[in-house]
Amino acid sequence: MSKVLIAYATTEGQTARIAERIAQALQKIGHTADVLSANELEADPKEYDAVILGASIHYGHHPVCLGPLVQKYREVLETKPSAFFSVSLSGGGPGARPKTARRYLEVFLRETGWHPGQTATFAGALQFSRYPWWKRMLMVMIVGFAGGDTDTSRDYEYTDWTAVAEFTETFAKHLT
Ligand SMILES: Cc1cc2nc3c(=O)[nH]c(=O)nc-3n(C[C@H](O)[C@H](O)[C@H](O)COP(=O)(O)O)c2cc1C
Repeated sequence: MSKVLIAYATTEGQTARIAERIAQALQKIGHTADVLSANELEADPKEYDAVILGASIHYGHHPVCLGPLVQKYREVLETKPSAFFSVSLSGGGPGARPKTARRYLEVFLRETGWHPGQTATFAGALQFSRYPWWKRMLMVMIVGFAGGDTDTSRDYEYTDWTAVAEFTETFAKHLT
């Protein structure tokens, strides 16, 4: 059975939720999975049989801390089963722009020079309850313009959990 590192970079928590779901699915079939924040990664990818990295998009970019992290471990990552998933509103939900979501992911991989064996874009969430007032207003404008949901009295989750499960199943096929 394999030992898998799942590192995530999140701002409002949805990417962490997806990382946890992937870990639970891997654990269910007998693998060990550690879910850790990529911001201050307290683990060495060398110690793992496989690595999954997930990150969300804000203002058109993944968190800047991820570039140096991937570059630091790129050679190690290239020797193991590895995957990258990107979480955004472009990735799904009302007003989704799948090509844009894909472009975010591809730009990140081009910039870091990493070639993970598997990649995915997942729809994220609109978590109005977690935003300060100015971010709520900003998101209402951006999302409203794109034809999305703007009721700030509630949150919206667009993540397709079936797609997350399929991603995990495919990844698990590369584990021993
Ligand atoms: C301030 C802000 C900026 C965002 N910018 C983008 C963006 O440029 N493109 C996009 O597709 N989604 C954008 N999103 C949507 C996030 O990617 C989405 O809410 C995701 O679920 C956040 O994941 P996290 O909770 O793991 O941080 C933005 C969200 C916020 C709050």
